[in-house]
Amino acid sequence: MAAVEVIVLCRLDELIEGEARGFDPLQQGKDALFALRSAGQIRVYRNSCPHLAVPLQYRKDRFLSADGQRIICYAHGAQFLPLTGECVYGPCLGEVLPALEWQEDAGWLLFSTHQLRPVEA
Ligand code: FES
Repeated sequence: MAAVEVIVLCRLDELIEGEARGFDPLQQGKDALFALRSAGQIRVYRNSCPHLAVPLQYRKDRFLSADGQRIICYAHGAQFLPLTGECVYGPCLGEVLPALEWQEDAGWLLFSTHQLRPVEA
């Protein structure tokens, strides 16, 4: 069984309303997950589109629409609700982004890396 490692992603106050940040907690050279703040709430999702299992962003930390109201997959334009991860437009309509558990400790966003299982090829 793999060891459970809890790591610090960032300070919660670094997550700005309507913006997202990508993280590479396993140091694989790509952001495996991203965190966002929407309506004052924090969410963390695996950076994998339910359509074709590719990363969503078109460049570093660009996961959201300009108005911050949707998560966007830049491969084919799928749009997801920030608080639920539900796809409301695009080829994976009705599917959801994989939400990940997180914890807060003294204003820090903590993440258990055991949630990042290898992606099937
Ligand atoms: S891979 Fe995301 S919409 Fe197609």
